Amino acid sequence: MAIPEELISRLRSARSVAVLTGAGISAESGVPTFRDAQTGLWAKYSPEELATPEAFRRNPKLVWEWYAWRRQRVGSVKPNAGHVALVRLEELVPEFTLITQNVDGLHQKAGSRHVLELHGNIRRSKCFDEDVVVEGWEDSKEVPPRCPRCGGLIRPDIVWFGEALPERIFAEAEQASAKCDVFFSIGTSSLVYPAAGLAYSALSGGALVVEINPGATSLSTEASYSFREAAGKFLPELVRKIPGKA
Ligand code: OAD
Repeated sequence: MAIPEELISRLRSARSVAVLTGAGISAESGVPTFRDAQTGLWAKYSPEELATPEAFRRNPKLVWEWYAWRRQRVGSVKPNAGHVALVRLEELVPEFTLITQNVDGLHQKAGSRHVLELHGNIRRSKCFDEDVVVEGWEDSKEVPPRCPRCGGLIRPDIVWFGEALPERIFAEAEQASAKCDVFFSIGTSSLVYPAAGLAYSALSGGALVVEINPGATSLSTEASYSFREAAGKFLPELVRKIPGKA
């Protein structure tokens, strides 16, 4: 596909680049996107019913088992060419901030060094009562397991519907988006705020905003460029053209 020369030259001269990724960048790794239909045993539930503190209070075992199933599915997948291209992009620009809504840890697995996880990480757990990360617990047969410190229930360290994003992490993401020269929105439906608002902070900061998504979103008409492309195909081609700086 044709990549506009103007975009390449803006990337070559960019001091800072910010990237927001969503479930779409992991789709080519085989991780279903958030709004893909749930499969198998979980088909009869919608994420909105399970990913809430109320659902956990009501049925902690069901919610814990749903995340255990998702963790097991994510455990075996590998980063794809899109994740790897972002590791390369990080090397090519002076200031690079990678912000993700994904909880699969694939950016870190690909080698991205500094990842702002707005919605947590499915591989991390925390105490429901103390809201503190728990590294390990006694392997009793109880599901969900209990916090070794206070005996409270352990939950996934994931931001659930109705919960606030980690404040410091979002503030850093917001600041990076507002001051960057180029902002990428990759593989996100741009439906969920405040994450979806970051592209608008970039626009009002005067950044060039680039969307990469096979489907159109509400950002598509606002972005400087909107490529109807898969991240795993488009990103490597784009990043390959950047070196050879003028
Ligand atoms: P969605 O499932 O809402 O959107 C995934 C987007 O990826 C869609 O717009 C697809 O068109 C696009 N897509 C699919 N395949 C792609 C590919 N190969 N390359 C690029 N894009 C592709 O997932 P998110 O936008 O990440 O929040 O959802 C945002 C948040 O909504 C999630 O983090 C979750 C959910 O509520 C919480 O759980 C708090």
